[in-house]
Amino acid sequence: MTQIQAILLHWFTENKRDLPWRDSPTPYQVWISEIILQQTRVSQGYDYYMRFTEKWPTIADLAQATEEEVLKMWQGLGYYSRARNLHRCAKQVAEQHDGHFPADFDALKRLQGIGNYTAAAIASIAFNLPYAVVDGNVYRVLSRLFDIDTPININEGQQVFAQLADTMLNREQPGTHNQAMMEFGALHCVPKNPDCQNCVLQAQCLAAAHGTVAERPVKIDKVKVTVRHFNYLVIRTEDGLYLHKRSGNDIWKNLYDFPMIESKEPLTIEQVVSSDEFKQIIGEQDFTIAKVSPPYTHKLTHRTIIAQFIEIKLSEEACNIQTKNIFLAREKDVANYPIPRLIDLYLNN
Ligand code: ADE
Ligand code: SF4
Repeated sequence: MTQIQAILLHWFTENKRDLPWRDSPTPYQVWISEIILQQTRVSQGYDYYMRFTEKWPTIADLAQATEEEVLKMWQGLGYYSRARNLHRCAKQVAEQHDGHFPADFDALKRLQGIGNYTAAAIASIAFNLPYAVVDGNVYRVLSRLFDIDTPININEGQQVFAQLADTMLNREQPGTHNQAMMEFGALHCVPKNPDCQNCVLQAQCLAAAHGTVAERPVKIDKVKVTVRHFNYLVIRTEDGLYLHKRSGNDIWKNLYDFPMIESKEPLTIEQVVSSDEFKQIIGEQDFTIAKVSPPYTHKLTHRTIIAQFIEIKLSEEACNIQTKNIFLAREKDVANYPIPRLIDLYLNN
């Protein structure tokens, strides 16, 4: 057993919540509890679990129920396809497996509504088979222990964390190990302000050592605007043109582009020029608009950028831009700065 495994098991023994599906549960109990817990927290899930298993103590009982009864029991949990799948799965097990869950990961996965997570939970907790469970708690704990910044909600992240969870799995007690990981994430290594000072794994924890705990796990905000409009100001003077050094937690960090006004919708030139950001950059000085490019569409993995380039001329003596990260570069030096392809395309067009 590795040190981390031993620490986790010991922590679990001392700190686990006493839950009705915890002591030598049947596959049915594991299944019901895990499906409910995918939908809600333990505090609310507890009551649902009790009512469910009182009404239908075995999977055979559930298979006999009507779909409507199951939906009624599920009421309030939301995502009703889970309830329908639960019922269909019970019927499948009754018909195809003699009323007993198969003690086999792949066979479990072929059942209605059972994916990697639920199959691994049933296989490990009910059958003691060596499959690692990866839920939100496990993502968080692993991303912190190993200080991993791969986003958890892209394919690459799922692979990275599934593999790491498997490497970390305690193969003698996979079910207890999996529950310990989840419980540790649920109770101690919580999303906001975990108590790292009093953590049994602090000495092993790379995120705690690097000060990145609050930034783990990394998640890509997929629902956030997938189209971004970049209204670039290409500000030229006789001495050169203004570049902008990108910073912060965004695309093209530390690359150079132009001063820019970002918007969620396309902006007209009038809207750009009358925006606060424009005034912040240009101030009160006189300018003329020399040229406006057609829109450039630039596709990145997780978003599309639509850029327009607005060429602005400032009179030399008036020119005075003091905005942070914006500076005047000589035209012939621009090629020496690292610039995104989009900017390169525009300049060399
Ligand atoms: N969350 C979902 N399943 C869990 C489990 N078995 N133990 C702790 N937290 C959980
Ligand atoms: Fe989680 Fe903090 Fe413990 Fe690391 S030290 S495992 S971040 S609680």
